[in-house]
Amino acid sequence: MGTIDSVLKENRLFPPSDDFRVKANVSGMDGYNALCEKANSDYAGFWGELARELVSWKKPFTKVLNDSNAPFFKWFEDGEMNVSYNCLDRHLEARGNKVAIIFEADDGSVSRVTYRELYHRVCQFANGLKSLGVKKGDRVVIYMPHGVEAIIAMQASARIGAIHSVVFGGFSAGALRDRIQDAAAKVVITANETVRGGKTTPLKSITDEALGLGGCDSVEKVVVFQRTSAKPEHWSEERNIWWHKLVKDQADECEPEWVNAEDPLFILYTSGSTGKPKGVQHSSAGYFLGTQVTMKWVFDYKDSDVYWCTADVGWITGHSYIAYGPLGIGATQVVFEGVPTYPDASRFWQMIEKHEVTTFYTAPTAIRSLIKLGGDLPKQYDLSSLRLLGTVGEPINPEAWMWYHEVVGGGRCPIVDTWWQTETGANMIAPLPGAAATKPGSCTLPLPGIMADIVDESGAPVEAGKGGFLVISKPWPSMVRTIWGDPDRFKKTYFPEDYNGKLYLAGDSAHRDENGYIWIMGRIDDVLNVSGHRLGTMEIESALVANPLVAEAAVVGKPHDIKGESVVAYVVLKSSRPEGDDAKKIAKELREWVAHEIGKIAQPDEIRFGDNLPKTRSGKIMRRLLRDIAKGAEITADTSTLENPAILEQLRQSAI
Ligand code: WTA
Repeated sequence: MGTIDSVLKENRLFPPSDDFRVKANVSGMDGYNALCEKANSDYAGFWGELARELVSWKKPFTKVLNDSNAPFFKWFEDGEMNVSYNCLDRHLEARGNKVAIIFEADDGSVSRVTYRELYHRVCQFANGLKSLGVKKGDRVVIYMPHGVEAIIAMQASARIGAIHSVVFGGFSAGALRDRIQDAAAKVVITANETVRGGKTTPLKSITDEALGLGGCDSVEKVVVFQRTSAKPEHWSEERNIWWHKLVKDQADECEPEWVNAEDPLFILYTSGSTGKPKGVQHSSAGYFLGTQVTMKWVFDYKDSDVYWCTADVGWITGHSYIAYGPLGIGATQVVFEGVPTYPDASRFWQMIEKHEVTTFYTAPTAIRSLIKLGGDLPKQYDLSSLRLLGTVGEPINPEAWMWYHEVVGGGRCPIVDTWWQTETGANMIAPLPGAAATKPGSCTLPLPGIMADIVDESGAPVEAGKGGFLVISKPWPSMVRTIWGDPDRFKKTYFPEDYNGKLYLAGDSAHRDENGYIWIMGRIDDVLNVSGHRLGTMEIESALVANPLVAEAAVVGKPHDIKGESVVAYVVLKSSRPEGDDAKKIAKELREWVAHEIGKIAQPDEIRFGDNLPKTRSGKIMRRLLRDIAKGAEITADTSTLENPAILEQLRQSAI
């Protein structure tokens, strides 16, 4: 991987105001340091105490961490609890009538659900699932619009000890089928349609198509939530059941299934370095603890907050910071079905004003696109309710950070830039907003109890200012437990032998500055980050080569102003290289093909055709060269090992 150079220099410092610091759940750097010292001196004691404070147990645990079978760590292994109980039942007495969810639909209509109502609706749906024969340990795939019902489906599944796997509603039939098949799901929960940005997508038809692709014999029932009045194309009396019919006669109480701390809560598929997505498997108690501790420390949760995370439940952020984190801590949260640009680019600011949002958590890509579409729009709204801002999913460039800070936050709200991953379950590196002074573009310091480090190829820590690999040197409660059905891949990917299996390799490069602040530089593997979504280049390549026209394909990322990265595909056809209108036509076809195979999010922005690809004599595609060509940059890499150097010039001129 050679040396990783860091180029960013940013020295502006933004300490929290005295007022924020004094009221914060962790106050000042003294507060932060005290927690870190506690974690350093008694790691198990530190996490054990938090687990007793923030999680309600049916049966208390006696052992905090079992590392005898590393890297298959176990946390609180003899404890019993239920995550849905922790999110609902335990709030009923003190805040049963508190609003849990303020739901704003795509068309702007608003509905509110209290904790008590949510509890009853989750219980009814849980009873409905039971009536379909769903039992503890069964897998339930949730392919739904972002909204209250998706959260109910997740909570209900947690309540009965089933394992959910949410598939983002933007994925296609092929991607859905792969996930249903890998998880061997018993039930799929979907909706007739989703509505986003005024457009509908027929989820039920896509589900039918997915099941029709074969390999989904495990599926016994498909539950369909009626989101719009549209009639599904097909209806199988045997396999399909409407959500409203399923819950109609169900009791609105349902005793939770008490599960072991280590029983899986969910699987969430994410992209890696191969064509096959990985089913990241999370535990119940450790995962839940991660969400709670970060709600308290990073989001500085207060009972009076109106919290809004703009993610979709289809991603990990929607799991940890919509479906579980805020409900676990008893927050009132906004759940928004739509997109930031519909009906126009002031939607977020309007909603912050209308719902008096205090805590706002979104992605840098959304911030960048809203700057572009209307950087002055926030000034037309009263955003004075805001007290804390957050970002997640990709590095935020300092310009976007400053705009977020000044124009959205009025210069008074700390920004928590939270680094974490599907695999980490919860925030890992982020400022505690009442403690750390922030720097635009840095996710600052590891949370107390998170042993993050930056190392070189041999595993030795690198000096300040030098780039290296981001690793976590001790297990933490909310960490991935395994890859569903593939423990070997889990071990090899995250605890590689290069580091004697002792370090968790995050897959990101980073550096520390002279104050110990961490700056994430990007992925070191074949994973792209497009609009904050993780996409495997291999996944897109295998989709392309599955097209009958394509002989070979290589996919790389290219820097993009708004999306962070965009997808560029180099394609060799089985027939001769197309040119002119022919090339345009085939490129369009291939883009549609990828949308159909994986989903629109994976569509290449650019397709370039070549007679072949630049390879070493041993046949390895030299992606670095392809990245340089995509950027239009000078090729600096050594090309002497290339089998066919002339191809570079052809590819350089291949933009269509
Ligand atoms: C990137 C999303 C810089 C990183 C929660 C990581 C970030 C990948 C940040 C995980 C951040 C996430 N600054 N980069 N604050 N947050 N990333 O699994 O490359 O969808 O490895 O989880 O996103 O993406 P995932």
